[in-house]
Amino acid sequence: MLASKLAPTERVPAIRLSTRISPRFRDEPVIFSSHCPYSVRAPSIRLYGDSALNQHNDNAVLFGNGDEVPSNNSNNPHIRDLIGGLNRRQLLAGGAALGTLAFLGAAIPGDALAAEPQAKGQPFKLRSRLPFDAIPISRTDGISVPTGYKATPFIPWGTPITGRYPAFLDDASNSAQDQAEQVGMHHDGMHYFPIDARRGSAKSSDHGLLVLNHEYIDAPLIHPNGPTLVNGKRASAEEVRKEINGHGVSVVEIRRNVRGEWEVVPSPRNRRITAATPMEIRGPARGNPLLQTRYSPDGTATRGTQNNCSNGFTPWGTYLTCEENWAGYFATRDSDVSRELKRYGLRSSSRFGWETLPGDEFERFDATRKTTDAQGDYRNEPNHFGWIVEIDPFDPSSTPVKRTALGRFAHEGLIFAPVQGGRPVVCYSGDDSQNEYIYKYVSRDKYRPGNSDGRLLDEGTLYVARFNADGSGDWLPLDINDRRFRSACETAGVTFANQGEVLINTRLAADIVGATRMDRPEWGAVNPDNGEVYFTLTNNTARTTTDAANPRIANAYGHIIRWRENSRDHTGLRFDWNIFLLAGPNGDSRDPKGQPLSEQNILASPDGLWFDDEGRLWIQTDMSGSQLSSGPFGNNQMLVADPRSGEVKRFLVGPLGAEVTGITATPDFKTLFINIQHPGEGSTATNLLSTWPDGPGKRPRSATVIITRDDGRRLL
Ligand code: FEO
Ligand code: CA
Ligand code: CA
Repeated sequence: MLASKLAPTERVPAIRLSTRISPRFRDEPVIFSSHCPYSVRAPSIRLYGDSALNQHNDNAVLFGNGDEVPSNNSNNPHIRDLIGGLNRRQLLAGGAALGTLAFLGAAIPGDALAAEPQAKGQPFKLRSRLPFDAIPISRTDGISVPTGYKATPFIPWGTPITGRYPAFLDDASNSAQDQAEQVGMHHDGMHYFPIDARRGSAKSSDHGLLVLNHEYIDAPLIHPNGPTLVNGKRASAEEVRKEINGHGVSVVEIRRNVRGEWEVVPSPRNRRITAATPMEIRGPARGNPLLQTRYSPDGTATRGTQNNCSNGFTPWGTYLTCEENWAGYFATRDSDVSRELKRYGLRSSSRFGWETLPGDEFERFDATRKTTDAQGDYRNEPNHFGWIVEIDPFDPSSTPVKRTALGRFAHEGLIFAPVQGGRPVVCYSGDDSQNEYIYKYVSRDKYRPGNSDGRLLDEGTLYVARFNADGSGDWLPLDINDRRFRSACETAGVTFANQGEVLINTRLAADIVGATRMDRPEWGAVNPDNGEVYFTLTNNTARTTTDAANPRIANAYGHIIRWRENSRDHTGLRFDWNIFLLAGPNGDSRDPKGQPLSEQNILASPDGLWFDDEGRLWIQTDMSGSQLSSGPFGNNQMLVADPRSGEVKRFLVGPLGAEVTGITATPDFKTLFINIQHPGEGSTATNLLSTWPDGPGKRPRSATVIITRDDGRRLL
């Protein structure tokens, strides 16, 4: 009924491998702008001017940089230091059959290529597990996929899904209430729940719930003519309410019609969760004095989730949304900032200026101390963010729950290790900010299929990763009851009153134990073939040095790391790791076989990561700035890698200015859903840098994309 009638798929021919990359790109330093280019294109308005916070944040601008502000001033070792101490060959899968890294070298490149029947007198012909022609890079304002595949935009920003089902208006004049009944802006992490997930086989591939994050909003596009400002402050409560409602999560029931097209079902299950939806706080930090606010004097409840980036889903059928760049939504004018705020980069002004409007619904974004105790103001409101939020998509009346045992940081996503009945659940999460860490959670209680629920995420141990130079790794507990942790705290001269306080200060706790500072951990994925855990490290411009002789020093392009736990059930304290892929142009990269990336797979800034059920790794990119506009990579893209063979091929290229993110599939793998976020990033109503997906003259809209094969068979 509401199926999208949008731009047709663009098909492109197979790549010609004779193309050469211009040598210009090999030594030209790349300068990155932020994830959100408004720091360049939007008015730079200082809300409070120079404040007492300028010791760590004095460049805040309204609608500015959405990425996390680097705030790790610890001296912990950096992954680059460790890489520098290793033989380069050891880092690459192609040379991994060495010493302690041999576990990852077990699969000899090519051993996964299925041998086809041997014709008499002919050598074996190997069949690729990536049976499509890699597509070339492109800079078109559309979606490119290989011949034989179709990509169809679906549920773009503003699609009506609930309430009065208000139609999207091309001039963005929909009200705040309309936005609360429509799909939010800037699609990100996403999961497909078969409609029979709770009762039945969980195999339904024609009917399910699509649940997706909306990471942030573009203020210049969400209103007809951008936001209204008076003296640098927000002047319209209606506008800010619309922005708040453009954030959060959408739950959308979808079904294939008789023609095989996916449609939105006008279902009571459809739901919008926004940056204002009431939520509960659970786990060790529940009720902590550091969570007391005017709204929740006992520190057990909060409102909203925001900047929801990647996602997760639980073995018991719930959705997990992850709060990433939340710190920029708050401001504090206090001169003495608490460690809970300082270590997370709170500034004297916020990204959207919501706190500049009067009224409790807006003042909660102002963390300035205003009363004698925390129950009278919102000094602790930022402590309500940086968590994993669990949502039951099948119960529209359920209250989302912030699970504090999983730690507080810029959560990119949450990925589970394979679950086993009678064993604890184990999950991983990266802190996507420059020089931050990778974490693992192990539940205290055992997983009981059919009986377990979100309470497994309330009691357990949070660990942080240390990657050792010899290819081994350690999980370091952040547990106040652990003797080593208490000893490290004592050495550092840091005290925590209880485990709740440890978790509210997760980054500080990780600093203390000597975790390894990473190059912006993004998505994780677990290989179903062997349990190896893969994580993207998207880039780290804060580590740029002047050493032009070592092109990886800048790590402008990012890489993918992987590890194997030493314990079969993933609960142990030791692991072995190596680098799966170094992203970058032909002259500065390595594929899983140890060879430079080629025209069929050069990429930069890997972000989204997902394994299909046959063990192929899908990689999505989030390049920005000059890397996108003038690098050799074209628009952001999605590639598929086969860890068994080391093959990597480009499968999809997105439209202008967009990030490719979010990925999930139906159980039959005949439909793949991905998201296109912020097409035409930096557009205004009068300067549209993309018009995808609606076409000429129309504002760009983030949207899901449905990928199918023309012959209706499995994707691969
Ligand atoms: Fe929202 Fe780390 O990307
Ligand atoms: Ca991301
Ligand atoms: Ca990213």
